[in-house]
Amino acid sequence: MSYSRTNNSTRASIDTSEIFGSGTFKNVYAGTYTSGSRKGQPCVAKEFKSGCVVEEHYFDEELNICAKAQKIIDEFNDAEIMNQPIYLNTPEIWTYTRGCSKGGQKTLLEPMIQNFEKFNSNSGWALTDTTGWADAMQSLSHFSYDNSGGTLLLCDLQGGRYNNGYVLTDPVIMSKANNCGPADLGIDGIMSFFQRHKCGAFCDRSWRRPPVLGKAKIPMHQGTTMQAYLPTRTSRAPLSPTLRRNFY
Ligand SMILES: Nc1ncnc2c1ncn2[C@@H]1O[C@H](COP(=O)(O)OP(=O)(O)O)[C@@H](O)[C@H]1O
Ligand SMILES: [Mg+2]
Ligand SMILES: [Zn+2]
Repeated sequence: MSYSRTNNSTRASIDTSEIFGSGTFKNVYAGTYTSGSRKGQPCVAKEFKSGCVVEEHYFDEELNICAKAQKIIDEFNDAEIMNQPIYLNTPEIWTYTRGCSKGGQKTLLEPMIQNFEKFNSNSGWALTDTTGWADAMQSLSHFSYDNSGGTLLLCDLQGGRYNNGYVLTDPVIMSKANNCGPADLGIDGIMSFFQRHKCGAFCDRSWRRPPVLGKAKIPMHQGTTMQAYLPTRTSRAPLSPTLRRNFY
């Protein structure tokens, strides 16, 4: 079963006059669905900050990471660690109708989440709160590492509580292979996360942890840390669409 929360709509009206929220990479605008089963409900439209609204790669990469994250979340739910499910918002690439101020531009559209809160970041910051959901999210991150055989870590967990479960959006995957986008801090990120992670009520004590040596390399922040590329010519990888975003 897939625990995804989808648009179920093809039309919305977005208020682009003011920014509703923003993170490290994106600006977010609020709006309302005007068709489909969510008609009348609030939605959000996200665009990349670097003015790269025409760069299809960023949108596609985001959707790929979301699909990967969805699999991890589905597996966590299927493992029945919690008695309520965790859902993931599925964004879609929508295009503003011609004639409006953003006409022709692409945007990532998804349902709005009420009472937005953040539980952990990609540098190992974690909400210190003893409610069930905060513990559940730290457990989901730890689970993802164990369940992937120590190859990746799902983190940057944020969203909102509902009566029948929890809804997340825009998680980060950090990977040993370091191939999951600009918030993937690779091995250093995974290590930093575990140097700061304290197992809570829903972590299984048999889940693997990387061998943690010394101090964390990545400074701890609540916000999302972007991969930093030190521009020493010799160490520079060829520019790919993913890497390029960091130079703007
Ligand atoms: N579905 C949503 N519902 C309500 N607020 C949202 C939603 N998605 C994002 N936001 C708000 O916008 C901010 C940035 O969104 P996010 O998708 O995390 O972008 P970034 O890629 O910059 O991290 C969030 O911190 C939150 O305040
Ligand atoms: Mg984010
Ligand atoms: Zn743990």
